Amino acid sequence: MRNGGHEYDYNPIKTDVLIVGAGAAGLRAAIELAREGVDVLVLGKRRHGDAHTVWAAGGINASLGNLDPDDRWEIHAADTIGEGHFVNDPRAVEILAREAPERILELRDWGCPFSLTEDGELNQRYFGAQSFRRTCFAGDRTGEAMLGTLVAKAREEGVRYREDVYVTKLLKSGGRVNGAAGFDMKSGRKLLFGARAVVLAAGGYTSIYRRGSSRPDENNGDAMALAYEAGAALKDMEFVQFHPTGMIEPEGMEGRLVTEAVRGEGGRLYNARGERFMECYSPEHMELDARDVVARANYREIREGRGTPDGAVLLDISHRDPGYVRERLPNMVEQFAEQGVDITREPMKVSPTAHYGMGGIEVDPRTGATAVEGLYAVGESAAGVHGANRLGGNSLAETVVFGKILGSHLADVLDDLLPPVPLDECAAREHFAALDVLAAGRGSGGRDPEELIDELRDLLWDHAGIVRTGDGLRKGIEKLCDLKGRAGELGLLDVPVNQGLERIFNLRAMLVAAEAVMRGALAREESRGAHHREDFPEEAEAWRKNILCAWIEVGGMHLWTEPVGEVPAAIQKALDEDYSLNYHYLE
Ligand code: FUM
Repeated sequence: MRNGGHEYDYNPIKTDVLIVGAGAAGLRAAIELAREGVDVLVLGKRRHGDAHTVWAAGGINASLGNLDPDDRWEIHAADTIGEGHFVNDPRAVEILAREAPERILELRDWGCPFSLTEDGELNQRYFGAQSFRRTCFAGDRTGEAMLGTLVAKAREEGVRYREDVYVTKLLKSGGRVNGAAGFDMKSGRKLLFGARAVVLAAGGYTSIYRRGSSRPDENNGDAMALAYEAGAALKDMEFVQFHPTGMIEPEGMEGRLVTEAVRGEGGRLYNARGERFMECYSPEHMELDARDVVARANYREIREGRGTPDGAVLLDISHRDPGYVRERLPNMVEQFAEQGVDITREPMKVSPTAHYGMGGIEVDPRTGATAVEGLYAVGESAAGVHGANRLGGNSLAETVVFGKILGSHLADVLDDLLPPVPLDECAAREHFAALDVLAAGRGSGGRDPEELIDELRDLLWDHAGIVRTGDGLRKGIEKLCDLKGRAGELGLLDVPVNQGLERIFNLRAMLVAAEAVMRGALAREESRGAHHREDFPEEAEAWRKNILCAWIEVGGMHLWTEPVGEVPAAIQKALDEDYSLNYHYLE
C-alpha cells in the first residue's frame, strides 16, 4: 500500500510470541517457548549475539555451596532482601534464590564455559554483600559466555531472530497488546508485527546518565517507554544502581565497567593519599560491602578532594600473583593494557558509574505478566526482585530464572488466550504517518536529538545522581519539562533517516525513564539502598513501600505507592540468623 509516496506494508510479520530484546532474558524465554512448540520471533537491535548481556562481567549467583557448603537458597534470598532494603517483591526473591542453581547447572549442561574448581565443580567467587562465595563465573566474561550458550541453544531449538529492528510502538486491539510497529535500522523500512503476546526484554534505563557502564545507545529505557505508553505501570524507577568502579578514561570509555570481580578477588581501594579508605566507611566488609556503600565512599573521597587530580580513586590488585590475576580477570587485564596500564603491577583509576536500574515494568514474577493483557516483561526491563539495590551477580541469574518461568507460563496459557485478533490498522497507519512526519523534518533546521540527549544525561547526573536533594530534584524536574518541550521540535538534520529516527526514539524513551526516576526520587523522602537523599539521610519505616507510576489522560505521569508483601518464614529465619561475609577471609 502506498501513502503520500511512502511505502507502508500492512501485512504484518506474524508469530505467536514476539520478544523485543535479544539478551539473555529474551533468549531464555524464547528457548522455553520453542521447546514447547510455540512459534516465537526475537527482535534485536544488533547482530544476533551482540546484546548488552555480553558486557556483564563478574558472574551469576546460585547457592550451590561448592566452596562454602553452608550456603542455602534461603541465605541467598536473605542477602538479596537485605541488599534491597526490604522493598523487594518477596515472591520474586524466593523464586530467584530457589531456582538459580537449576538454571545455572542447565547452562553448564548446554556448554557454558564456566570456570571450574580442581574437582570439576562450578567455581564460585566472593561478590559484595553476599554471605558466602556464591558467584559462578567464566573468568570475567560471564555474560559473553552465557549469551553465546543461549544463542547456540536458541538456534538449535529453531527460534527465529531478526536483527536491526527498532520497535517504536506496541499495538493494541480491544485493550489487548497484539503486535508492534517499528523500523529496520539499516534500511529505514517500516515494519509491522502481529502476535498473540508481546514480551519486553529490552534492558534497562541507565543510559539516561552522563556516565554509565552500557554502550551509549543501549539501555535507553525503550521497554519502559513502550510499556508506559501501552498503559502498564512502572515501579521503583527511583532506584538506580551506581557501580563503584567504572573507568574514567580514555574519552569514549568513561564509565566502562571495572568488574566487582576485581574486589571479589581481593582488589583494594585507595585514595590519592594512599589511604585504604574503606577502613573508615566499612571496617567489617571493606571493599566488599554493598555497592551503594562503596559507590558513595568513592564518590565522597573524590568530591572531598582526596581523589586523583583527574577525579578517581585507585583500585589495586597488584598484591596478588600476576598469573592468578591474568587467569581470573583476563578481560580487565586486556581492557587496561589497551590504555597502557598493567593491572598486575599498578592500580586502576576508577570512579562510580550508572550500572543498573532496579526499577522497571511492574510484573507478576510468577508469570512475567503486566497488568495489560497480552504484554509481558522480563530481565532488567521488569521491576521487583532487587528492591532498592541489587546484589552483583543477581542480574544474570534473574535473566535465566525469570526467562524460563515466563516462557513456560506463556506456553501453557497460549492456547487459552483469545484467538489472534486483527491488528488495529488505523493505529499502525497513524504511527507510520508520524514517522514520515519526523523523517520529513530532515534538514529542516529542527533540533538535533543528540544534543538534547547530551543535555538530559548531564541533567540526570547532576540532579538525580548518587546523592540527591529535594531542591536539586525539583530544579531537575523543571529543566526536564523545558527539555521535553524542546524535544517536540526535533529534526533529523544531516544523518540518514534511519539513524535520525533511532536518535529521536532513544530520546523519547529516555524522557519517560528520566521523568519516572526524578519524580519517584523526589517523592521518596528518605534514603534507602541506592537512593540517597542528603536532606533525608535515614531510612524511614513509613517508606517501606514501592512507588509506582503510570500515564493518565489528564495530568500525564501519575504516582502512587503500594505496600511490600510479607517475607516468607524461611527467608525471615535466615534474615534473623544474620549471616554476613567475613571479609577478612580475603586478607
Ligand atoms: O561488576 C560486575 O561484574 C557486575 C556484575 C553485576 O552487575 O551483576
